[in-house]
Amino acid sequence: MRTRLTIAAVLAALMLAVAPGVANGAQATTSTAMPSATATRSISSTAPYALDFTLPTESKAGCMVCHGDENLTRLKAGKTVTFYIDGDAYAKSIHATTLCVGCHLDFAYTAPHDGTTQWQTTAKLSCKNCHDKQFLAFGQGVHRRAVDATGAAAIEEAKKPLCGDCHGSHDIMQITDSPAGKAALHKKGYEICGRCHQEYWDSYDDYYHGAAYKMGAEDAPACWDCHGYHDILASSEPASLVNATHLVETCGSGDCHDQHGTATDKFIQDAAQMIHGKRAVREANPLVVFFSRIFDGIGSLFGG
Ligand code: HEC
Ligand code: HEC
Ligand code: HEC
Ligand code: HEC
Ligand code: HEC
Ligand code: HEC
Repeated sequence: MRTRLTIAAVLAALMLAVAPGVANGAQATTSTAMPSATATRSISSTAPYALDFTLPTESKAGCMVCHGDENLTRLKAGKTVTFYIDGDAYAKSIHATTLCVGCHLDFAYTAPHDGTTQWQTTAKLSCKNCHDKQFLAFGQGVHRRAVDATGAAAIEEAKKPLCGDCHGSHDIMQITDSPAGKAALHKKGYEICGRCHQEYWDSYDDYYHGAAYKMGAEDAPACWDCHGYHDILASSEPASLVNATHLVETCGSGDCHDQHGTATDKFIQDAAQMIHGKRAVREANPLVVFFSRIFDGIGSLFGG
């Protein structure tokens, strides 16, 4: 059996790597690689499917007549872009039995590809039609878009994620009651949150949470383990999971309570400042002394 990578293991490795100069910290590497929905392939042939067609049917098989062909590529701005959909991979996703036009609403047979629709936005938001509970929650959080925004405001609104920006498209997995599905998401904190919140991704680097998380610790919290996901609110909002009044509850949820076994309100509130604020707090706060002692302790176990 594979050994689980845990915070403890990462801390131990960190100690070995950086001891004795722990206070300066190991800079965790951040992944900038983004899974691209439109992966570019090296197939250079252009399949002959014309676009001025009337789709034979809106069934999945109808779409796959063309999209099931590995050679369905087009040259776009000098790059070969593939429009091939891997039917086997799709069949393993949670949407195996969902129609293509369930998400690609604008590609139903009555509307052949005309290149004028905002098809990405349509697909990435189509989810709301079948997942109304999540859509409702989403509408209550910071990422909901103002519908009447125009001009510069609209451009700002468009920077907020739609369902598909976090979940992807053709390989969405079961999440509820699925440790595998949750674990797959857990690894993608950069893509799901960090790429848009670079500053907070970078500052999420305290040893016990962020540094361990970025080094792959499976039991270290992902952004949404503290902030929530569909109905995220700014910490200044009383209902936010990371509002000062909810910290004890949030930090004590799941299995985490044991890790904070000595948790008192004061301890939690002080510790919470370290999550994104290690650098700022380091000099001023006596906690640093506390943490340093823990690290020195762990370090000495390994001869550091
Ligand atoms: C007759 C062949 C054919 C059929 C049938 C077909 N497509 Fe396409 N599709 C294409 C081609 C060719 C492209 C590449 C268009 C381009 O050059 O941008 C494409 C592109 C797309 C795109 C990307 C659009 C873009 O502008 O980049 C989506 C999404 C899509 N198809 C969905 C579907 C769905 C859903 C169905 C079934 C309802 C379907 N297609 C049926 C040939 C087909
Ligand atoms: C769960 C919703 C969903 C379903 C079901 C779905 N798609 Fe998509 N599809 C998306 C999203 C979201 C995108 C990517 C939009 C973006 O990020 O640019 C996409 C992108 C595409 C593209 C552009 C190339 C690519 O891979 O990104 C094609 C072609 C396409 N889909 C065809 C299909 C076909 C054919 C089916 C059915 C076999 C299908 N889709 C089913 C959501 C879906
Ligand atoms: C900012 C990123 C983000 C956006 C935007 C987002 N989700 Fe999620 N979603 C997540 C995360 C993270 C989880 C799972 C967390 C966990 O359980 O570990 C999740 C879980 C889910 C689940 C599983 C059931 C549940 O509620 O836990 C569904 C279904 C879902 N999302 C649908 C949607 C739909 C529909 C939208 C758009 C209205 C959406 N998501 C927008 C991040 C996002
Ligand atoms: C035409 C209906 C339909 C559309 C559109 C659709 N889904 Fe689903 N989705 C389903 C069904 C059916 C299931 C499986 C049953 C369930 O868990 O609700 C499912 C399951 C899921 C799950 C796993 C749920 C869980 O609790 O683990 C996620 C996550 C998810 N969908 C996300 C999305 C996202 C993101 C989109 C848009 C890009 C989307 N869905 C579009 C019908 C749809
Ligand atoms: C596609 C980009 C994008 C993604 C992905 C994204 N966000 Fe955001 N987020 C934004 C934008 C844009 C805003 C509104 C502007 C702002 O306040 O920064 C925002 C606002 C927020 C706020 C409120 C900030 C404040 O100061 O009021 C929080 C907290 C937040 N996001 C957390 C998250 C978390 C956690 C995730 C992952 C689960 C996530 N975001 C994913 C773009 C994104
Ligand atoms: C262990 C819990 C925890 C984790 C994990 C976490 N945060 Fe935070 N986050 C907080 C707390 C507490 C605050 C408020 C205090 C502060 O700003 O330092 C906060 C503040 C923020 C803010 C400022 C807006 C606000 O609500 O005050 C953003 C944006 C943010 N976090 C994004 C992220 C992102 C992105 C990740 C993942 C890389 C992440 N957080 C991981 C606890 C967490």
